Amino acid sequence: MDKDFLNVIYTRRSVRQFTGEKVKKEDLVTMLRAGMSAPSAVNVQPWAFVVVTERDTLDKLCDALPHAKMLDKAGAAIVVCGIPDKDDIYAKKYWVMDCSLASENILLVAHGLGYGAVWTAAYAEKDRMKSVRDILSIPENIIPLNVIPVGVPVNKDEAPKDKFKEENIHWGKW
Ligand SMILES: Cc1cc2nc3c(=O)[nH]c(=O)nc-3n(C[C@H](O)[C@H](O)[C@H](O)COP(=O)(O)O)c2cc1C
Repeated sequence: MDKDFLNVIYTRRSVRQFTGEKVKKEDLVTMLRAGMSAPSAVNVQPWAFVVVTERDTLDKLCDALPHAKMLDKAGAAIVVCGIPDKDDIYAKKYWVMDCSLASENILLVAHGLGYGAVWTAAYAEKDRMKSVRDILSIPENIIPLNVIPVGVPVNKDEAPKDKFKEENIHWGKW
């Protein structure tokens, strides 16, 4: 196992304080490529990504979303969206899982590239989904799952939470 790879997973944490510096476009593309590398049920890939870098739009999202105030200093935001009608069976059932896997890949690669990021909820909060939809002109049949602010962390060395708990593991049987 590549130690750097494990280190990225173990040290990822939600970052909510950014310096205000921009995020390079090539780095955003790397995050999106990682997102789209995620598995999805029957490989339907029921996702789309809205990438926001304009300060004015980041501010509008910041004003509208009560739990995403870190957008005020984020360099960018990636909005992961689900497309439940991408096919007739699997996307409807599995879009949340598929898009969540894409989101985790984005969070991990943001961290691996030296940025900070945090999942902020849109789905399943009706008012937040409406705000995100209105601000970003997202069509009714597309569901914004989250808004992921990305930026340069103020504190690069902040420790991750240790969440390994033996009691969560049931070897063999419950
Ligand atoms: C479905 C989901 C919704 C979340 N919503 C928010 C949110 O709206 N605002 C926020 O600051 N963090 C949000 N988080 C981040 C969690 O608070 C965070 O992942 C958790 O506290 C564990 O901390 P860690 O990511 O640093 O390990 C959300 C995470 C998930 C998975």
